[in-house]
Order: sequence, then C-alpha cells, then structure tokens
Amino acid sequence: MCGIIGYTGSINAKKILLDGLSSLEYRGYDSAGVCFFNNKNNIEVIKSVGKVDNLKKLVEKNNSYTTCGMGHTRWATHGNVTNENAHPHSCSYVNIIHNGIIENYLSLIEEYNIKERKSDTDTEVAAIVLNKFYEETNHDPLISISKLMNTIKGTYAICIMFSDRPNEIFAIRKLNPLVATTTNIGSIIASDLTGIIPYSKNYILPPENSIVKLTPYDIRAYEYITLERMELQILQLNWSVDSAMKNGYPHYMLKEINEQPQALTNTIIPYIKNNIPDFSDIGIDDECLKSIDNIQIIACGTARHAGLVACSVFTPILKIPVNTFVASEYRYTEPYITEHTLVIPVSQSGETIDTLASLTLAKNLGAKILSIVNVKSSTIARSSDYCIYTNAGPEIAVASTKAYTVQIAALYLLLSKIAYLKNKMSLEELKDFINTLNAMPEVIKETISNDSVIKEVAKFLKFKNDCFYIGRLQDYISSLEGALKLKEISYIHTDAYAAGELKHGTIALITHDMPVIAIDTNENISSKLLSNVEEVKAREATIILIINENFKYKKDIAKHIIPIKNVDYRFAVFPVSVVTQLIAYYTSTERGLDVDKPRNLAKSVTVE
Ligand code: AGP
Repeated sequence: MCGIIGYTGSINAKKILLDGLSSLEYRGYDSAGVCFFNNKNNIEVIKSVGKVDNLKKLVEKNNSYTTCGMGHTRWATHGNVTNENAHPHSCSYVNIIHNGIIENYLSLIEEYNIKERKSDTDTEVAAIVLNKFYEETNHDPLISISKLMNTIKGTYAICIMFSDRPNEIFAIRKLNPLVATTTNIGSIIASDLTGIIPYSKNYILPPENSIVKLTPYDIRAYEYITLERMELQILQLNWSVDSAMKNGYPHYMLKEINEQPQALTNTIIPYIKNNIPDFSDIGIDDECLKSIDNIQIIACGTARHAGLVACSVFTPILKIPVNTFVASEYRYTEPYITEHTLVIPVSQSGETIDTLASLTLAKNLGAKILSIVNVKSSTIARSSDYCIYTNAGPEIAVASTKAYTVQIAALYLLLSKIAYLKNKMSLEELKDFINTLNAMPEVIKETISNDSVIKEVAKFLKFKNDCFYIGRLQDYISSLEGALKLKEISYIHTDAYAAGELKHGTIALITHDMPVIAIDTNENISSKLLSNVEEVKAREATIILIINENFKYKKDIAKHIIPIKNVDYRFAVFPVSVVTQLIAYYTSTERGLDVDKPRNLAKSVTVE
C-alpha cells in the first residue's frame, strides 16, 4: 500500500518528507520519490527504487533548499519496480503522487489520445489528463481538479503540485485515506496518522467529495462540484508520539505483542456497564441486537481468523447462522441478507479494500453494518451504521498481533450480549463469560513472560523450509493464525491443517525432522489430537506441542512442549495466539529478517 507525505511551510521540507516516508515504510513499498519547489521556485523531482534510505542518499546530495514538497512510497500495482514508475509523476505543470488504482486509465489513454508516456503507470495518465484540463482552464487548479475527479474512476488518495503555484499542495481522495494538519511550522498531509503524529495532536480528514488546498498556515476544502468552501472538522489524536514509536523494543511487533494485556483492557472496559456488555454508546439498541437472526462476519487474513474464533464459540450458543467470509470472495457473491442480518466487517486498519467493498455490497442489500475497527475515523468505520472501536493503539508491524486478540475480545463482547438478549445465555452465564474475558490480560502477561521454550523452538525452526500447524476445532483456527504469522515474517512455507485431515493426503508430506506444531487445549478431543501427533511422529516428524498445562501426555511425545495456562477452552485462543506470535517473531529474528516490514507485504491492502 503506498505512502503519501506532503508539507508546505517555513522550514526545511526535505527532512519532513524523508522522516514522513520513513514512518510510512511499514505500509509496504518497493520504490520512493519526492518533488519540491527549489529556491528559484522550480520543481525538482528525485526518485529511486528500493528502500527510503536509497532516496535519502540522493536527496542529501541535492543542494536545493525547499519549504514545500511531497513524497511517496510506491507499492507497485501498474508497472514494474523501476525509477520511471516511481512517483511523483509529472506532466508539464502537473506533479502528482497517488495511492490507489485509476481503473479507467486505459480508456483515458484512448479518449485523450495519449501517445507518449514515460512510465507504465495509471498515475501518469492522471497527470497528463489533469495537465490538459489545467491548461484548458487557464491554469485554474480547482476547476481542473474538479474535472479530473469527474473523469477518473477507481480508488485514490492523490496529492498535486502545480509548478506555477509555489507553496501550494492540493489533495483529493476517494475511499483511500488521507489525514492533514496545520501547525506553527506549516501544513502537513499524509496517508495516515503516523505521518503527522510528530507534529500535531490535531488533524482533519479530507472529505471524499472535496478538493483540499494546503498553504503554509491554512488548509481549506472546496466541494468538488460547486467549489464552495466546506467546513473541516478538527479531530483530536488520542495516540501519543511514543505510542507510535518502538518504546525501546527492537521491533514494533515485539512491542505490540507486549501491549496486548493493556490493549485488551482498553478494549473491554469501555463496553462493560454493570458487569455486562453495553453498546448503547455506539448507538445500537438492545432491541435491534435482539432482532438479529443471521450474523455475517467479513474480513481478511488475521481479522478473518478472529471471526472464525467467534463463530466457533457462538454458533452453538446462538443457534442462528453465524458465519465468517473471506472478504475478497464475499464481495463477488450474492449473499443472503434480510433486514435482520447483521454484517460485521472486522479490520485493524479500517481501509482494507475487499472488506470495504463487502461492506458496501451488504449495506446496499439492506444489512445492518456494525464494524470492528482499530483506526479511528477510518473509511470502514465511517461507512458503517455502527462501529465498535478496538483500543489497541497504533499497530505498525505488518504482522497483526494485538489487533487480533482485541478483535476476538470485541466479538466476544458483542455476541455474548446478543446471546443474552436472545435468552441463549443466562445473566449468570454472561457474567461468568465476561469475568473470564476480563482475566485474559493477566493470562497473556504470564504467557509472554514464559518464552524460554519458544526461543528454543525458534532456533530449531531457523533452518527449516517447511512447517505444519495442526489442531482441531478452535485449535485448528489457532493453527491457521499461527501458520499465517510464521509464514509472513519468517518466509518458512507453513500450512495449517485440521488434524483429522492429515490422513486424507497431507501426511504424505511428512518427512524426517519435518516440524509439526500441534495445538491441544480442548479436553473433549485431546486424545484424538494426541493420536494425530503419534501418526506424524511415526513418520519421523519433529513435534512441538502447545498444550493445556493440566492435560495428560507422554513425556517423550514432543521435542518441545509449550504449556498453556488452564483456562476455559473458549478462551485458550488468547494465550495460544501469543505463543504462536512469539514463535513467528523469534524465528524471524533468528533468520535475520525484517520482522516489521516483511517482503512483498503491506500493512493494509487498499488496492485489489
Ligand atoms: C496479518 O498478520 C496480516 N498482516 C494480514 O492478514 C491482515 O490481517 C489483513 O490484511 C487484514 O488487515 P485489516 O485488519 O487492516 O483489514
């Protein structure tokens, strides 16, 4: 997902742009660039493939002084990773940077008879078309940008600098995020809050149907059709600078794993009144919740696994359809929806395009939309009828950790309340359930502190190319999440299997010393899981067993045994997920990899 930073003010813009691009690196990218007005008010453009450090070296060699510019980290969509395809893209008066996809760029090439391009990107086409409008309107920025917004189709967050308008930056967005602020050193715009956190606790969200103009000490928005001034709401940032930084940990991921106890408490407490969940503050009343007869949770990746956990616990309790869907699949289906269907998009970033598209589909079909989101005022949050905010604070590492456990907690709070309202849970059962949930921060804290065996496991996995996670029921879901964590930051090919499925094909892959991580926290089926472990052990697999500390097992059943605190099996997912997060983290560091910014991945997938 691309990163955008822009600044116009009174101090050295280069530092602000480069620091901003560094803070946005976690979003994932493969090239970077800046453009700025030099001391003669001419535009200079510097671009490079690879890391922001490569760009920094080129900018430091440049002798121009500038107080106005913009920067971009590109995650390639159209066109390979080359200098030419890196942003900014320029055409005569127009310089633009873009996060998103211009879906009709090919037809624009035909419509505007664009014969020559310097790059293969959709963004350059937008620059060429905008320049045409700019010249046709006698260099009117607002009218020409308005025409562009009526011409391009797709999703975008775009910043524009016109070479004959020094110290001005224009911005437009559709679905993709932008935040902006103005301070005593100037005005700043960025893809997300991490780009502006060092400068201000106040920010504005450029509205979708507006053209935003930044000048050194002012930000204005104009309705993009009428060009009338629009009111901009000033929002208060509830993240402190250090909360978005590493706080002394070597990696954001380890910091965020350790933040889980507090993140859970911060998420649970605000939604508890008189010891039971209460969602009146988000505007949804109990009658509405009680009328729900079909629940569809929609998400991607780790967020989807949180949905699967909630479904596994509440389907037998609620006795109504409670299903989780892959958002990138759901958005192209014709889901069964009635006025009593509750659709729950779950998203840490609140910007995942497939989840957002699924939300829009479900909303158009008449579903009630209650999203569970971590980033305040994100697009998914603002597109929902109701939103439960998880209060995990900024999650910077690409591998989602604290967002996962707080998503499960939020789903548990919501679905247990619905169960109570529908008389599927007594008040006693509900209070007991919530008490157990409230004990999870302490359980997680204890699990994190017992990581010595996990470090041994990481040393063993360090040289492996393949690994299997196996489990049954909720432990299978934990296996899915554990496999995702391990593969995405250690690059070890890791698969998760329902343990009973092994003999239906997968066991053919088990070879000598193949690592198999088995998860066993459900007493009702522990013996079944342990016999699956024996099956793979008989094929010379090396076993790592994550198991409830009270369960019985043969001492020599595994090379490594990681005990899990004895909790109600519906809550075992909390300590288990911390163990699988730490296995992934320590294995990645053992392999000397970029834990927070793994190859090919972005923190939030805002393009299809
Ligand atoms: C999780 O470790 C991954 N980074 C990824 O699967 C992530 O959970 C997924 O892209 C969904 O992101 P979201 O929660 O911001 O929508």
